[in-house]
Amino acid sequence: MAKHTVTVTDNATGKSVEFPVREGTHGPGAVDIKTLYQEFGLFTYDPGFTSTGSCRSDITFIDGDEGVLLYRGYPIDQLAEKSSFLEVSYLLMNGELPGKQELEAFTGSITRHTMVNESLKNFFNGFHYNAHPMAMLTAVVGSLSAFYHDSIDINDPESRELCAHRIIAKMPTIAAAAFKHMVGEPFVYPRSHLSYSGNLLNMLFSRPSEDYEINPVAEKAMDQLLILHADHEQNASTSTVRLAGSTGTNPFAAVSAGCAALWGPAHGGANEAVLRMLEEIGDVKNVAKYIEKAKDKDDPFRLMGFGHRVYKNYDPRATIIRKTCHEVLNAMDMADDPQLELAMKLEEIALKDDYFIEKKLYPNVDFYSGIIYKALGIPTQFFTLMFALGRTPGWVAQWMEMVGDKEQRIGRPRQVYTGAAKRDYTPLDQR
Ligand code: SDX
Repeated sequence: MAKHTVTVTDNATGKSVEFPVREGTHGPGAVDIKTLYQEFGLFTYDPGFTSTGSCRSDITFIDGDEGVLLYRGYPIDQLAEKSSFLEVSYLLMNGELPGKQELEAFTGSITRHTMVNESLKNFFNGFHYNAHPMAMLTAVVGSLSAFYHDSIDINDPESRELCAHRIIAKMPTIAAAAFKHMVGEPFVYPRSHLSYSGNLLNMLFSRPSEDYEINPVAEKAMDQLLILHADHEQNASTSTVRLAGSTGTNPFAAVSAGCAALWGPAHGGANEAVLRMLEEIGDVKNVAKYIEKAKDKDDPFRLMGFGHRVYKNYDPRATIIRKTCHEVLNAMDMADDPQLELAMKLEEIALKDDYFIEKKLYPNVDFYSGIIYKALGIPTQFFTLMFALGRTPGWVAQWMEMVGDKEQRIGRPRQVYTGAAKRDYTPLDQR
């Protein structure tokens, strides 16, 4: 088949140049414009990168129109139903589902790295009890590099893999420590005989004063939520991890930068914002008023948990989480949870409203996840931290892929300068 190219013509000079199109396995190809500036002395302009690919990747594929999400080619609904978070983590990092021995070895490695240096606990004492959990996570994850900086060689694949295992293993321990600091209870150490999600629940909710029994429904729901959040192409936080990592910084610092980006309410902070929005709406009778506010250009209010840069159809994760939400609430005898009822009513009205239909705004992964986290006993301000726990294997897999990609260089976007024209300094007595 003839090579696919795109011709760019500058009508100011009449110069035309053909640029090659890089085709992918699925989805749109990309015009390779690496030499555009060299050929035309011009940059591209694409704020928010709506039409710009920053890299090639083998890890995740999203079809926003069809509502498809694949991790290494496997549909998210199959993984959510049949896999486990650690198996999905292995898949994202290695490209293939593990065999029995590989999964045992990987699980064993993660289990062996769940402890954190005892002196790390002192970091939490510097935080006020009501510090936002994402402030604590961002700070403490970044500080992990202080314990390993002399043993990290990011150019050695084995060293990269060890860092990746350490980060995946230690995130729940750090997350639970942040929770215990907030509630003023003693930290709970990881337990090697528990599953990844069971260990997380135990570190969050067990207390020295009584036995804690892990609810299997909660353990399964937690594991599924982590799977659903594990990766999502080049979203804002993953792109941040890649950009930070492209400078050669250590992966703990790059993941800390990812945590900071995820915290924003337009991104991973949306799950917390959804619950606060439901609290603000308060009652089904107020839904119509808030839908109008969301449509009002002069009103900054947005329907949190709705809309997506890529999904212009239902977010497949929202479909799965919506089902799990009902299962968990039924299992916890909370089926008549008023916030779930309110969320269902809000979804029903919004999906029939022309504004949301025309702008293709559907519920995304954050719309229902907070309701499940709340049912599992996790406070609202911790929801984004749970998102970060899920996204960690995606962040480290994308970081590993970027560091190993010969084509990748330090990320350094250009700009269109629209500031003052060149001028001379005016002495103070002449201003
Ligand atoms: C995540 O990228 C990822 O993959 C992210 C993520 C992941 O897994 O990593 O999927 C996780 O971040 C999910 C999104 C969570 N955020 C929210 O739920 C916050 C609410 N949603 C929006 O802020 C918004 O929809 C975004 C940020 C998600 C997407 O923004 P875009 O693609 O930049 O779209 P836009 O802001 O340009 O909106 C297009 C139009 C605008 O109206 P017009 O200017 O064209 O008239 O739709 C409107 C917006 O005003 N709009 C909304 C809306 N979202 C978009 N109006 C009301 N309520 C909303 N939620």
